[in-house]
Amino acid sequence: MIFSRIAGTGGYVPGAPVSNDDLVARGINTSDAWIIERTGIRQRYIADGETTSQLSIKAAQRALEAAGCSAADIDLVVLATTTPDMTFPSTACLVQAELGVPAGATAFDVQAVCSGFVYALTIADKFIRSGSHKRALVIGAETMSRLIDWNDRSTCVLFGDGAGAVVLEASDQAGILSSALHADGSHSNILYASGAISAGQIAGSPFLYMDGQSVFKLAVRLLSDVAIEVLEQANMPQADLDWFIPHQANIRIMNSVAKRLELPAAKVVVTVDQHGNTSAASVPLALDAAIRDGRIQRGQSVLLQGVGGGFTWGAVLVRY
Ligand code: ACO
Repeated sequence: MIFSRIAGTGGYVPGAPVSNDDLVARGINTSDAWIIERTGIRQRYIADGETTSQLSIKAAQRALEAAGCSAADIDLVVLATTTPDMTFPSTACLVQAELGVPAGATAFDVQAVCSGFVYALTIADKFIRSGSHKRALVIGAETMSRLIDWNDRSTCVLFGDGAGAVVLEASDQAGILSSALHADGSHSNILYASGAISAGQIAGSPFLYMDGQSVFKLAVRLLSDVAIEVLEQANMPQADLDWFIPHQANIRIMNSVAKRLELPAAKVVVTVDQHGNTSAASVPLALDAAIRDGRIQRGQSVLLQGVGGGFTWGAVLVRY
């Protein structure tokens, strides 16, 4: 039987950190205390001209190095983003060419906003388990700063830019233990960026809109349910879970879900304080951070979760 396993991870954030006080200094009517209390965010990174594909390439190179392989060994690139470099070609194709993934490989983008990486990892797992592909580069990358209205203090303090990547390869040992992906388009009105290129102009708003309180309530319920779903699929009692990596949007959402799942804070990987909400990049960046600092060890179980615009949500249970 063919399974897939994570062979290596990488992460990249652009430039120097931008603190909450830096935002105040830039004229935003907010405070370090408000942002930390409501979100847990202390700083974020903002790309200064770097594109989503450029962030992706740096994260991917680190993942390839960690996996001990090269771009020539990759036959599938699945890239999750809401902020592609262009309308087309896909950012995955740009990354393929620049990185040197062989011509003829499969490469495509996935659009599921903050659930993007969990969607991409699940899709890559299914490709590998089918036997059609052997080694995938799975990337979550965003330049969310492009969608931010710096005059809207209720959203501009929340987001950041970055990229995370994993090399997922065929194995006779199960690395991905279970997964679940869901969507409900009837909630599209509480979180969206409506702008689209049409007839030479942007139709709709170029900026992100969010009804924060509605998103908060929905996210807590969906994340709690999908965590239980994938643990049950794998017949794993909650107490046996080693690490929990929810989407890094807001520490209060993460704590509420961990509490509902009766998971101690020590098992929750938190990077939202460092990166802000990097949408599709948030989960792979957090995974990479906890692997590189030695918290997540080979053989341990890790629950990855995403939730975001669409609405979309999902979870992947991994044996690292
Ligand atoms: N600084 C200071 N004050 C602010 C700021 C700010 N940056 N933003 C809003 N306020 C003010 C508001 O104007 C309001 O003032 P008022 O009472 O005088 O009218 C007050 O703070 C409270 O505003 P609320 O919107 O009610 O604040 P809330 O406690 O709901 O916190 C937040 C807002 C942090 C966005 C919260 O709703 C939240 O965390 N929602 C979850 C959404 C989320 O994390 N989204 C991430 C993207 S979606 C995803 O990734 C799934």
